[in-house]
Amino acid sequence: MVSGVDRENQAMQRAAQLRQELALHNARYYVMDDPLISDAEYDALFAELVKLEQEFPLLATPDSPTQRVGGAPLSAFGSVRHAVPMLSLNNAFDDEDIQAFDKRVRDGLETESPVEYACELKLDGLAVSLRYEGGKFARAATRGDGQTGEDITANIRTIRSIPLTLAGPVPEVLEVRGEVLLFRKDFERLNDAQREAGEKVFINPRNAAAGSLRQLDPRITARRPLRFFAYGWGEIRGSLPGKEARADAPPFDTHMGMLDWLQELGMPVNRERQLVSDAAGLLAFYRRVEGLRAALPYDIDGVVYKVNALEAQRALGFVSRAPRFAVAHKFPAEEATTELLGIEVQVGRTGAITPVARLKPVFVGGVTVTNATLHNEDEIERKDVRIGDTVVVRRAGDVIPEVVTPVLDKRPADARKFVMPSQCPVCGSAIERPEDEIIARCTGGLFCAAQRKQALWHAAQRRALDIEGLGEKLIDQLVERGRVHTLADLYTLNEEELAGMDRMGEKSARNLVESIAATRTPPLGRFLFALGIRHVGESTARDLARHFGNLDAVMNAAEAELLAVPDVGPVVAASIFRFFAEPHNREVVADLLRNGVTPGTETVVDRTAGPIAGKIFVLTGTLPTLAREDAAELIRAAGGKVTGSVSKKTHYVVAGADAGSKLAKAQELGIAVLDEDGLKALLQS
Ligand code: IVH
Repeated sequence: MVSGVDRENQAMQRAAQLRQELALHNARYYVMDDPLISDAEYDALFAELVKLEQEFPLLATPDSPTQRVGGAPLSAFGSVRHAVPMLSLNNAFDDEDIQAFDKRVRDGLETESPVEYACELKLDGLAVSLRYEGGKFARAATRGDGQTGEDITANIRTIRSIPLTLAGPVPEVLEVRGEVLLFRKDFERLNDAQREAGEKVFINPRNAAAGSLRQLDPRITARRPLRFFAYGWGEIRGSLPGKEARADAPPFDTHMGMLDWLQELGMPVNRERQLVSDAAGLLAFYRRVEGLRAALPYDIDGVVYKVNALEAQRALGFVSRAPRFAVAHKFPAEEATTELLGIEVQVGRTGAITPVARLKPVFVGGVTVTNATLHNEDEIERKDVRIGDTVVVRRAGDVIPEVVTPVLDKRPADARKFVMPSQCPVCGSAIERPEDEIIARCTGGLFCAAQRKQALWHAAQRRALDIEGLGEKLIDQLVERGRVHTLADLYTLNEEELAGMDRMGEKSARNLVESIAATRTPPLGRFLFALGIRHVGESTARDLARHFGNLDAVMNAAEAELLAVPDVGPVVAASIFRFFAEPHNREVVADLLRNGVTPGTETVVDRTAGPIAGKIFVLTGTLPTLAREDAAELIRAAGGKVTGSVSKKTHYVVAGADAGSKLAKAQELGIAVLDEDGLKALLQS
């Protein structure tokens, strides 16, 4: 029989083992981004430990991962005086500021030689200081005013990526500093849940992270998926075995050396860090991160450069509250708040009604924004945006600016809800919204000037008829003056009347007439695309052309025949059939032909037969004679498909000179690799 003492001993051993394993898996997950086990397996280990600790409460050590779930609510936060103050960074905004920073650094160090810098992301969260005593997590504090912060130990303990015990020998006291933040997707999920529960929604991830850290009840913090990245340190007391000479000081010579060490101790350190050897390297880092920004799962507001040698950092010292050895190179802010003056609706090419926010002009994402999309009625309802609200506007990269959320604290008493108009503001036709759709549409079709303008714009674009010199402003005038009703009317325009339009000279009028004339013999696929049939994109249009060979055949095809075209399903087939069943549309086509537009014909190939039919190709590298688009065209013409990345579904990879990772992947997956000759042979077989 097993005695109680034996059971307790066993439990103690097992608990210690579980704690160690859980710490390892936490580090694999959060620090190395390379988990060894599934979430479910992790949960099972965790549950086992909870059970043991419940049975033997004495086993529950303060550094047990189970203690992360959060203890009793705090009555208020105590204050913590920082032994080493938490400073801020000076900001720089352009290349010149950076050159000036580098010059100041070199002047300060009295050197003409280039200085090495450590480059990091400027994470958009909250600065915290984590104190470890004897390698165990002891206390955490916010930055506060830099001298004194708030004690948030209980809340920080709930953050799973922060180790409770450091992995390796450490000085007696080690303060690690870094940023607490929320990943964007976690932020969105949190806001959805808040909304559902009728609770306060947060304006951005930073705000949500701040709110979560300042929760008096750590059990609430525990449910917020906060993250942490270390980028510095505060007090260090004692020394590292083998580095006794550096007592009470960083055990390594460089900033990057320190970060690598912190990572070895199990601290998450952001992987996007890099050493550069001079000021040009700083700017190159900035550009690279600019390109990366949208794809990062969390928000950053710039990058940070730090002189890498700690000796040089000491020599440079500080001015007032910021170091001379570091600078923040900021990106233009992607979010700003402004006033929502009104909501108007815009009519798209297919009649889709998009509510657009008219804003008090605001500088965001590097430009002044006056309009932002609100997507659709349901989105406005979901976000509870009202006219008169102060709203958060986001413009990330080249993406269309959008209204993210209202700032409810600032809602005026007379804020008004948006009501979808029942009539199109442009043509007066009814606006309808089918029950199971989220998009409301103007039913005016080509009677609606807004739809007509966009239909023309669509037809004129490069991928369609490619009418050079026919811009949006000119189309607006032509439609508004009633001169152009349909695409066919474009082919009746003469120099004289064009020269009479605003902002058109004789020369541009002549050029435009010529360029319109030059589009009279479009390939059939492009002609079909230009017609703007709903659901018929460029590639479907091309498929139709190849399948039917000439315009008549497409126009007179039955729905069943349309369904025989590769990749054409019932929705698309019905849409094409409906388009050509509409007398008005047939008239436009007839007018086009009468006005001298003659779409080409195609040799009909049976693309469902032959060795290439239905096969998936990936092109990589430079082929000796064929341009990549030409090779793709040949493959498509024979019924094959061309995609961008190699997967198990790929049948052939066609590789030319300097083929890179795609070729390697093909070889790894055992996919047939062809050169240009091989492709040609296959096409002819
Ligand atoms: S270093 C002595 N590094 O920016 C310099 N700060 O304006 C101490 N921040 O309060 C800060 N990413 O919240 C440093 N890689 C980074 C950072 C960073 C974000 C924040 C931090 C700090 C503020 C300084």
